Amino acid sequence: MDYPRLGFVPTMGAFHEGHLSLMKKAKAECGFCAVSLFVNPLQFAPTEDLAKYPRQHEQDFEMARSVGVDLMFVPDHAELTQNIQTNVIVSGVSDLYEGQRRPGHFEGVATIVAKLFGIVQPDIALFGLKDLQQCAVIRQMVADLNMPLRLIFEETVREESGLAMSSRNQYFTPEQKSEAAELFRSLTKAARTLSTLNPGSNDAVRITLDETTDSLRSKGFGVEYLDAVDPKTMHPATHIEQDSRLVVAAKFRTVRLIDNIPVFDKP
Ligand code: PAJ
Repeated sequence: MDYPRLGFVPTMGAFHEGHLSLMKKAKAECGFCAVSLFVNPLQFAPTEDLAKYPRQHEQDFEMARSVGVDLMFVPDHAELTQNIQTNVIVSGVSDLYEGQRRPGHFEGVATIVAKLFGIVQPDIALFGLKDLQQCAVIRQMVADLNMPLRLIFEETVREESGLAMSSRNQYFTPEQKSEAAELFRSLTKAARTLSTLNPGSNDAVRITLDETTDSLRSKGFGVEYLDAVDPKTMHPATHIEQDSRLVVAAKFRTVRLIDNIPVFDKP
């Protein structure tokens, strides 16, 4: 008899189409889909939104069921985090961008994901490219620790406006949500410009990034970083390459948004 493989999607709940696309892919690839729902305290700084992070378990279970999820794993907080004395630190890929702005964040992510992998023991684990640096951290951890599983990364699911779907979008009013889509429009415009530059025109790259940053700031976005990166190392791209991506983090109103897109249509 052919046993199904186990596809695993780690999440913090408050599901939207981005989460559901990972679940559907897991089901299609593996035949059995397990989803964990755990709002991981280790990855939130004391100043961040752990307490108010949206929690809507019943609705989440319903949505997961609707796409054929076979098992929901909702671990107990204390059981998963009390008394742990091991921290998984993935250097290099964690140094810049989110790692720099959110000290300890990727340590919290990597530690909890390593534990979840140990408990669930999936054949395949799926992550969204919306969190590009998180994908790089997990890829590096799995390679460095010889974890016996395969990773699949899926492209970002967006609202019609282009705004990347995110559980944190719930903090916006509908009007603010449509204004926030300017982040994606600006990113797309910058990527289009970068994709037409001659290789090696680093000054022109810098100018495009600076102009985009200035323009976003004038529209009310508190830009923390905007850069062209190598998605494997998560360091600045020394030259724009086929797989380069534009990454951005910006505060809009009270919500901190992150997003990224490929510089070229087909990386
Ligand atoms: P969470 O933010 O709930 O996201 C769960 C998964 O959904 C992640 O792999 C994330 O990249 C993906 N995702 C989020 N928005 C998406 C979108 N618009 N399109 C496609 N995929 C999207 O990421 C986490 O939880 C946590 O850090 C976790 C990995 C669970 C560790 O605690």
